[in-house]
Amino acid sequence: MRSLLFVPADSPGKLDKALACGADALILDLEDSVAPARKEAARAGAAGFLAQALSRPSRPQLIVRVNGLTTSLIDDDLDAVVAARPDAIMLPKAEGGASIVHADAKLTVREALCGLLEGSIRIVAIATETASALFLAGTYRGASTRLCALTWGAEDLSADLGAEANRDAQGRFLDPYRLARTLCIAGAAAAEVPALDTVYVDFRNEPGLRRECEEARRDGFTGKMAIHPGQVATINDVFTPKPEAIAKARAIIDTFAANPGAGVVGIGGVMYDRPHIAKAERLLARAKAAGVA
Ligand code: COA
Ligand code: MG
Repeated sequence: MRSLLFVPADSPGKLDKALACGADALILDLEDSVAPARKEAARAGAAGFLAQALSRPSRPQLIVRVNGLTTSLIDDDLDAVVAARPDAIMLPKAEGGASIVHADAKLTVREALCGLLEGSIRIVAIATETASALFLAGTYRGASTRLCALTWGAEDLSADLGAEANRDAQGRFLDPYRLARTLCIAGAAAAEVPALDTVYVDFRNEPGLRRECEEARRDGFTGKMAIHPGQVATINDVFTPKPEAIAKARAIIDTFAANPGAGVVGIGGVMYDRPHIAKAERLLARAKAAGVA
């Protein structure tokens, strides 16, 4: 998943627009973009949308962001959407592997009640939205086979930390958020799931978005969340492996295949050792998923 677009699930107009915007995934939001009095409308909006979108031959991944485990809302959220069989739920304000185990149990019960295969609904966790969560970012490994990606958030975290701002005057994240971002990358790698970058809220600033996407890809993120359909093309472009990167990955794999006993090879004057094989394989898998290899 390169691009994941948030869509407030109580907005029929935005739900209508979302399917055609080219995002790899839609995140039907029941949490922060929905006012308390609109939660019921959002649950109905998400369930109705899933019912009609899932049967389309070509469709994005469909993810529902439920409310967090400490709210009294998540059970009603899951009761409303599990039967409609989203591909995944997004768990906000996750606090380490224990919260994934907790969400897994809630899903298992409902899958059984709805006659769905156990484990069919996956979990994307937002891993850095509270101060406590930062200390637990390394505990996701092995929590549940449902866990399919980690992402991070700076808005709720800045509220929890009591900070005045999370970005500097040039729009770059300040230190506490750079730490959260790094913990997301490391926590995801440790759990062997993809890391997805957080949203860029200045949604008319394309150069700023592109810069943030490029920095994210450089550092190990494989996709980024969006809040506006106009952000999707830039995200898809930056996270689609380029022909030069694909050619280099193929050269590494081919060279090691031709030299099965070698631990290290030289290609074009640069040294590559065996960890580069796994990296090259991952890049080719992403290229294949994006339809360019
Ligand atoms: N998904 C689907 N459609 C969207 C959309 C989204 N996230 N954001 C905007 N659109 C639609 C608008 O409804 C509008 O449709 P129209 O032309 O048929 O009226 C069109 O795209 C252009 O929107 P625009 O006028 O540029 O923006 P806006 O002022 O209507 O909306 C936001 C701005 C930020 C309120 C809106 O983008 C939004 O709701 N984003 C999602 C927020 C969210 O989910 N946050 C939680 C995660 S941090
Ligand atoms: Mg939030």
